[in-house]
Amino acid sequence: MPISLTYRLSTALISAVAVVSLAFAFFQTRADTLGLRRDLEDHAQVLAESLVRSAEPLVARHANRELRRLVDRFKDREQIAGILVYDASGTPLATTPGLARRVEQNPDLFLQPGAEVKPVNKFVKLASGTIHVVSLPLHADDDMVIGDLSLFHDAAYIDLQAAAMWRRAFTGVIIQTILIVAVTLLTLRWGVGRPLRRMADWLHHLRMGSGANPPNMPDQGEFEPLTREVRRLASSLTEARAAAENEARLRDLGESSWSPERLRVFVQTRLGGSRLFAVSNREPYEHSHQTGGIECSVPASGLVTAMEPILRACDGTWVAQGTGDADRDTVDEFDRVRVPPDHPQYSLRRVWLTEEEEQGFYFGFANEGVWPLCHIAHTRPLFRIEDWEYYQAVNRKFADALLEEMEFEDSPVVLMQDYHFALLPRLIKAARPDARVAIFWHIPWPNPEAFGICPWQSELLDGLLGADLIGFHLQAHCNNFLDTVGRALESRIEREDFAVHRNGHASLVRPFPISVAGAFEELSAPRELTHPERGGLLDKLGVRASFLGIGVDRVDYTKGIPERFRAIERFFEKYPAYRQELTFVQIGSPSRTQIRRYQELMDEVVQEAERINYRFQTRDWKPIVFLNRHHSHKEILQYYRTADFCLVTSLHDGMNLVAKEFVASRYDLQGVLILSRFAGASHELGDAVSVNPYDTEQMADSICQALEMRPEERRMRMQRMRVTVREHNVYRWAGRLIEALCETRPAKVPGAPYLVPTAMTRSAS
Ligand code: G6P
Repeated sequence: MPISLTYRLSTALISAVAVVSLAFAFFQTRADTLGLRRDLEDHAQVLAESLVRSAEPLVARHANRELRRLVDRFKDREQIAGILVYDASGTPLATTPGLARRVEQNPDLFLQPGAEVKPVNKFVKLASGTIHVVSLPLHADDDMVIGDLSLFHDAAYIDLQAAAMWRRAFTGVIIQTILIVAVTLLTLRWGVGRPLRRMADWLHHLRMGSGANPPNMPDQGEFEPLTREVRRLASSLTEARAAAENEARLRDLGESSWSPERLRVFVQTRLGGSRLFAVSNREPYEHSHQTGGIECSVPASGLVTAMEPILRACDGTWVAQGTGDADRDTVDEFDRVRVPPDHPQYSLRRVWLTEEEEQGFYFGFANEGVWPLCHIAHTRPLFRIEDWEYYQAVNRKFADALLEEMEFEDSPVVLMQDYHFALLPRLIKAARPDARVAIFWHIPWPNPEAFGICPWQSELLDGLLGADLIGFHLQAHCNNFLDTVGRALESRIEREDFAVHRNGHASLVRPFPISVAGAFEELSAPRELTHPERGGLLDKLGVRASFLGIGVDRVDYTKGIPERFRAIERFFEKYPAYRQELTFVQIGSPSRTQIRRYQELMDEVVQEAERINYRFQTRDWKPIVFLNRHHSHKEILQYYRTADFCLVTSLHDGMNLVAKEFVASRYDLQGVLILSRFAGASHELGDAVSVNPYDTEQMADSICQALEMRPEERRMRMQRMRVTVREHNVYRWAGRLIEALCETRPAKVPGAPYLVPTAMTRSAS
């Protein structure tokens, strides 16, 4: 704390404490002094009255000698200065020796003869000190006043005691003031000054770029908001510096990589002020009631992983289903909430579905119908008319919400996401022809024969063709889509342009391989995650091993998890030297658990892991650890960064962002990616060890190859893959998507007539 502040604080404290203590001391001493005076007055009155009773008969009888004896008896009594007795004419009858002299000069100390007889009880200040006098008249039997008796007490002791009391009180005031001031200043110094100094030192180090660890700062009570804000400020500063350094580095290398900043500027110039909207079924942040209050989590979803950085960069609005049990408690009256909760950067508009809607739309049509329809994983799609009706109704519900959000926006730009919303592009374009609409299909598009088994393929295709731009991960998916349209709908397909013309509207069809935020260098990684301890991680899981393999998936039949486990089993059969040396950790986030096929899969995965473990495990080792719960990104990073290899064995996958996240996290250039050739990511990550997940022998050999790969080769492969992930990051994906969308020509006049396809009007009724 600065000296001047300490000085000002101490002066103010000293004055305040001293004034208050002195006032208390004053009143206390005054009360004590008055008490002493009152005691003396009472005591003197009682004594004088008893003396009057003894003196009256003696004065009446003129027994002056006895009277003097009576007076003399009180000669040496403590504090009694003396007694004076007069007759009615004012002649002294008896006096304590020496007293007359003291009182002579003060004739008003006793009753004057002839004066009206009035009792006296008072203190008088004399030159020799304060004296107290009680004067009482003496009466004869017939009640005539025959004289007067005055009793004098020395009251100087009261003054002395008052002075002593004052001295004590004053000393007390000084000690109290010093103590209070000292304790307060020390408390401030330790409780406020030290943390503030630590905070300042840390901020100084951060500013200087030394990246010192955050100090142990108080985060309770009054400090909590300050500490929270300072931490946020520091993390924004670190992020901004990392981004700037990365940009500078790339500029230096002559590369022009996509970053959040570049995307923001790009979107602003391309959209010319139009606002960006995203729509998906899965929301990016889910609020739920937990024992400690409401908690916020990020669901496991490749789509969320990819879209989140874009919305952050462009401050748009994301419309999604509210699925958390505390979601309704966290939105405003328009069902909106700003996210991310720690550092709000864009708006999330939640749409509420009834149980029946969720069952029919999400579990039924989208995930028991379209999902297995598009993934060649040999799970049969189920199509039910009720599910289809809910699918249409929910698409309309999302359309209403989106139209509401876009109401006051001119030429909005909309990025619709995935197979849940095949009908949405048409619904939006019908109401807002000025909107530029893109839909990105995050899953594969199968060949026309496979897609043709869907009873509502024409409606789905027509809904999609409402979009100005239809995106897929791979060129092969675009080709399949065009072939499907060609077979199912009346339309004109321009193969050179990859465009479909229908009802006077053109839809471009393009590949945009989705990605993650990028593979930045170490400086951008959160410090606490940079050197995770493999031993510590495995210890927590209760296993000992020298090598670690990792798999991260939603528990979905397209991911090939049982196939992966069987490959691990085969690996231990073929390469027994690795028993008790390698443990494979499978993080499996439960997914779509109301669907029977997913329940069966979960049982199968658990049983396979148990069976294989039973075969090989020892007291402190097992081949497979299956972590059957949702893990945060931060938790997963620790495994990515310590694993010797990552196994991605999808039977069929649009892209698979786990593969790219693993690469992005390995700035140590270690770790081997084993990747299914049926995952879209395999088209870009040619340096992964490629596998066919149906080929158990090959997968087992690939694990051995990964473990025994020369460090130099491992480095080279990882380095090349990192360049790809860094260059082809999600900002580039969004930039290219938006660029292509801006090249389309939407109608300028809102409300232009549009013919809603008959199939949709029929089923909508
Ligand atoms: C895939 C889909 C996404 C979906 C995600 C998680 O990545 O393409 O649309 O969000 O899986 O599935 P869920 O059903 O939990 O949203």
